[in-house]
Amino acid sequence: MRIVIGNDHAAVELKKQIVVYLQELGHEVINVGTDSTESCNYPEYGKKAALMVVDGLADLGVLICGTGVGISLAANKVKGIRCGVCSETTTARLIRQHNNANMIAFGARIVGPELAKDIVKTFIEAQFEGGRHQTRIDMITQIENEEQ
Ligand code: RB5
Repeated sequence: MRIVIGNDHAAVELKKQIVVYLQELGHEVINVGTDSTESCNYPEYGKKAALMVVDGLADLGVLICGTGVGISLAANKVKGIRCGVCSETTTARLIRQHNNANMIAFGARIVGPELAKDIVKTFIEAQFEGGRHQTRIDMITQIENEEQ
């Protein structure tokens, strides 16, 4: 799979480990995050990665900041993105199976590298179940397309 990865300064070390891990699993990794620990703004990287997904240049996306929340909020503002924040593997599986999430986010200040690897692997390998879940995804898309 083509996996885009985005991160801010809080997550440089964890990002590097996840990139290597994904490559070992045989995935193509597109790194659009910062490789510097100098303070930066996570929305920039959340948006960059999200655009790669909605433009079809990546199949799924992984986002990491301090908590995972800020960068996921930014990504979720891009039309067509469904990004969930996960600190454990059950949610990582269910956001694919039920929510058809196309991005996952987690916090480098929250989860350690081994758990982060399990979270990413679980997310990537789970399959959307469709059916009643598709109805709900369609409702989310409708909200996204409504004029506010
Ligand atoms: C950066 O200090 C931090 O605010 C950011 O990485 C993230 O946790 C925001 O949600």
